[in-house]
Amino acid sequence: MSAPTNIACVKYWGKRSIALNTPINSSVSVTLDQADLKAVTTVTVSKTFKKDRLWLNGVEEDVTKSKRFIACVTGVKNLATEKLDSSGEVLVDKSEWKDYGVHVSSMNTFPTAAGLASSAAGYAALVACLAEVFGAIETYPGELSTIARQGSGSACRSLYGGFVAWRMGSDNDTGADSLAEQVFDENHWPKLKAIILVVSDEKKDTSSTEGMSTSVSTSKLLGYRAKEVVEGRMRGIEKAYGEKDFESFGMITMQDSNQFHATCLDTYPPIFYMNDISKSIIKLIHTYNKWKGKIAAAYTFDAGPNAVIYHLEEEGEELLALMLMYFPDDKFLGSLVGSEYVNNEEEW
Ligand code: PMV
Repeated sequence: MSAPTNIACVKYWGKRSIALNTPINSSVSVTLDQADLKAVTTVTVSKTFKKDRLWLNGVEEDVTKSKRFIACVTGVKNLATEKLDSSGEVLVDKSEWKDYGVHVSSMNTFPTAAGLASSAAGYAALVACLAEVFGAIETYPGELSTIARQGSGSACRSLYGGFVAWRMGSDNDTGADSLAEQVFDENHWPKLKAIILVVSDEKKDTSSTEGMSTSVSTSKLLGYRAKEVVEGRMRGIEKAYGEKDFESFGMITMQDSNQFHATCLDTYPPIFYMNDISKSIIKLIHTYNKWKGKIAAAYTFDAGPNAVIYHLEEEGEELLALMLMYFPDDKFLGSLVGSEYVNNEEEW
């Protein structure tokens, strides 16, 4: 199975509870299509497997102590149902699944841990695969996303296509209401596209978990952002997306990316995710928008230097030509709004 990556327009940055992996603010993202950026995952389960194992891009990772991985496997097993054969005979009773070991193989079709939400796609694909194997059934809508959230926060949003919000929730005992919700599906705004500019495929030196923890304890701007800014932006961008108002959508997206990176700079010691190329992309997009006399392109950067540029279909060729002229050495990936969250046929 495969799952797509998602790129946040209003960013998640900061954990309310490290144990539950709940955020200090809600966030919203666009799920990209699976042509270029996805995690392809295969899960095999057997009673003979002595321990759970994971191979990431062909290399085995030790997951025996990984709280994230264990939370996903245990969470999905808790929702498991019995497995029947074609004649309706019980092959595996739901109480037996706990004795099954899990072997997972996952590949990203794009740079891992370079600020392109590889963990979002990876954990979403893992949870979707496990749910299929164990016949997991949600007891309320979005429950599987609460499990993916425990793998990687942003993964909860990759379980749905289109425009997806992660509502921060208020339950600090279980985190059961900190879940993803599809706000508009993938058919709502077919003209919205994204260009991904891979400036660097190196692994970032500050992981998002480490960065968030330092930001929460040292950045005053982060507290202000979570309390005073994000909710207004969430309302504004949901309205803009609903009305297909690219200018408002683009403005909020760029402002939120800038504020996220400002909180990184306000962190002590500061975190720099963007590099000089990232900054020249920002300049170029503002120059382009000035020339067009409107917001026709909007950049956003996650925890890395790589740019995602949202635009409408009609500007695609022009923007791509511009990027190729100014950044001929970088890799470009084109993408649409994701049309499906998992592709069952995909196996490798
Ligand atoms: O899901 P995590 O823990 O990798 O954090 C993702 C944080 C950002 O990508 C910077 C923002 C977001 O909302 O996706």
